[in-house]
Amino acid sequence: MSETHEVRNTTLGRSTQCPADQPVLEAFLRDNIWLPHSCTQGTCGTCKVRVMDGEVDHRDSSEYTLTPEERSEGIALGCQATPRSNLTLEPLEQANPDDGITRHPLRDYSGTVVVLDDIARDIRRLVIELDEPMPFNAGQYAEITVPGTTVSRQYSMANPPSQTHNLEFHVKRTSGGIATDGWMFGQMRLGDRVELKGPLGEFGMNTPQEEPAILIAGGTGLAPLKAIAQHALAGELAPQLYLYHGGRTRQDLYDVKFFRELEQKHERFTYRPCLSEQEWEGAEGMVTDVVLDDFSTCKGLSAHLCGPPAMVEAGVKALKRRRMAPRKIFREEFLDASSTLAGMNR
Ligand SMILES: Cc1cc2nc3c(=O)[nH]c(=O)nc-3n(C[C@H](O)[C@H](O)[C@H](O)COP(=O)(O)OP(=O)(O)OC[C@H]3O[C@@H](n4cnc5c(N)ncnc54)[C@H](O)[C@@H]3O)c2cc1C
Ligand code: FES
Repeated sequence: MSETHEVRNTTLGRSTQCPADQPVLEAFLRDNIWLPHSCTQGTCGTCKVRVMDGEVDHRDSSEYTLTPEERSEGIALGCQATPRSNLTLEPLEQANPDDGITRHPLRDYSGTVVVLDDIARDIRRLVIELDEPMPFNAGQYAEITVPGTTVSRQYSMANPPSQTHNLEFHVKRTSGGIATDGWMFGQMRLGDRVELKGPLGEFGMNTPQEEPAILIAGGTGLAPLKAIAQHALAGELAPQLYLYHGGRTRQDLYDVKFFRELEQKHERFTYRPCLSEQEWEGAEGMVTDVVLDDFSTCKGLSAHLCGPPAMVEAGVKALKRRRMAPRKIFREEFLDASSTLAGMNR
């Protein structure tokens, strides 16, 4: 057993014990002490904390996400830094403990692969039946461990949080990728056992809102938006929901029938698949351009965007151009190892 240290979150006035080899974010989340975070892989910078007292090991924190100046000012990445002593930490991004959102503690889970289907070009649906249910909020993700390694990767749940036993994931193949090419598109089979931890992240729609919501997905960025759309429709969280899904050709679209049926069932839901490289009967162009064409103003609306970082960035710019308030724009970027190395942090 490694040594443990007491770590304190000054915003919430709560402390927990953190093993010397565990990132402080993980220790907080396991004890249900909220700390703002997004990627949990050292890329986005959302989890920055000021070390008020004590000493941390920054481990692999990249200098793109945590600059040498920040380190010398006592800033650390909660998802990377481990404690070398007892710590008092102040999150730079303030979590509002009274925001009315129920948060679920981070736990380890095991499960069995019960669905592994090719659903679009280089995209698989993976369903894991958990041994024990995992409570989560729509839009959150889990970290799945590649068997026989210490490598784990983040995948967003696509099922609504009312289904806590079977977790649905949409996985895009990354050429040469350890988890995808090397495992989920390789030797993974139905019946295989899988280890994961979750839930993680704060992307989502958890409380009722007055604004109509635009949901914009690129590729497997559809996963958390599928969960959010189902959850928001079931709970009547928004007066209107517009879901956009962008692909290059028809081969990139999936779950079209599912969303068409959802559209039939709910008047308040609109589904707009868009293709950028093929002529067809539906919307044509980059998904963010289609949104621009559809809305002459986005004032008084909110948006959730998810997918590759470049698409999300373009979408945010487009929405701001249409006068959407920045605080009404929520984003989840599917950053990977190459993004960390290229310094994709915001
Ligand atoms: C919050 C979050 C949620 C996500 N949800 C989803 C989801 O629902 N669906 C989904 O498909 N993806 C999702 N992702 C992305 C996913 O976690 C993985 O990053 C992705 O599947 C690639 O994993 P991999 O192990 O196959 O590739 P990796 O092995 O991580 O490789 C990724 C890329 O990095 C390059 N690379 C790796 N190491 C190096 C190095 N040392 N030097 C240079 N280049 C390197 C590789 O060549 C490759 O291009 C999510 C990511 C985040 C952060
Ligand atoms: S959550 Fe720590 S850098 Fe993204």
